[in-house]
Amino acid sequence: MRKKIVAGNWKMNLTKREALALYAEIASGINTINSDKMIVFSPFLFLDILKQNEQETVQIGAQNFYFQSAGAFTGEVSYSQLKDLGVTNVLIGHSERRMIFNETDELVKQKVDTAITAEMNVFFCCGEPLEVREKNEHFAFISEQLKNNIFHLSAVDIQKLVIAYEPIWAIGTGRTATAQQAEEMHAHIRNEIAEKYDANVANAISILYGGSCNASNAKELFANPNVDGGLIGGASLKSKDFLEIAKSF
Ligand code: PGA
Repeated sequence: MRKKIVAGNWKMNLTKREALALYAEIASGINTINSDKMIVFSPFLFLDILKQNEQETVQIGAQNFYFQSAGAFTGEVSYSQLKDLGVTNVLIGHSERRMIFNETDELVKQKVDTAITAEMNVFFCCGEPLEVREKNEHFAFISEQLKNNIFHLSAVDIQKLVIAYEPIWAIGTGRTATAQQAEEMHAHIRNEIAEKYDANVANAISILYGGSCNASNAKELFANPNVDGGLIGGASLKSKDFLEIAKSF
């Protein structure tokens, strides 16, 4: 059975005190959830202290890293520095990294390879911009991202990924994909994996939805057979909402 996962992406939010308080609230509320796995992707700054306070039930992850292990890369944090803190969950390919920080398919692919070799847990993000959706080219766009970023992996390695489908027009906009839009894209992604690898591989991979997912729409989204949970931005900053989402399976 695929894992049901609820992940929070805190992005560039919170002070250290707020991050610790939020984490504690989430960790103390989890006895009522019914997801298999919960995780929060914190800013780098708080990873160390969060790891020291980590509870088994809510894992800690990093939103980014650089694929070299050390060297003259001013301002970057390496995967080996993360591992040194015990952080093994990483987001790769978030649309904000691709768009604001110009991360290319090549860089995303390099990060995927580095993380897999370093035995880290990759949460790989894909998603189309509004103009692509409006031209009705979203399926082809996502197929291309899969091909360019992750379809070079072996059948064993690709099953180590969690995939997050996050339509860019839905991120932080309050305009959530409908349950049907999410399901048809998730089914498309699973189908592409089945064609490239096989149905067993495709069925083993959790595919999360992200983009204005909140406590009121999570149930409808998660009820779809190919939606295995969510990657939550804004609503993960409020423990009550985040916990409510984690109960929505
Ligand atoms: P949102 O962000 O829930 O605030 O739309 C989701 C994400 O970017 O991961």
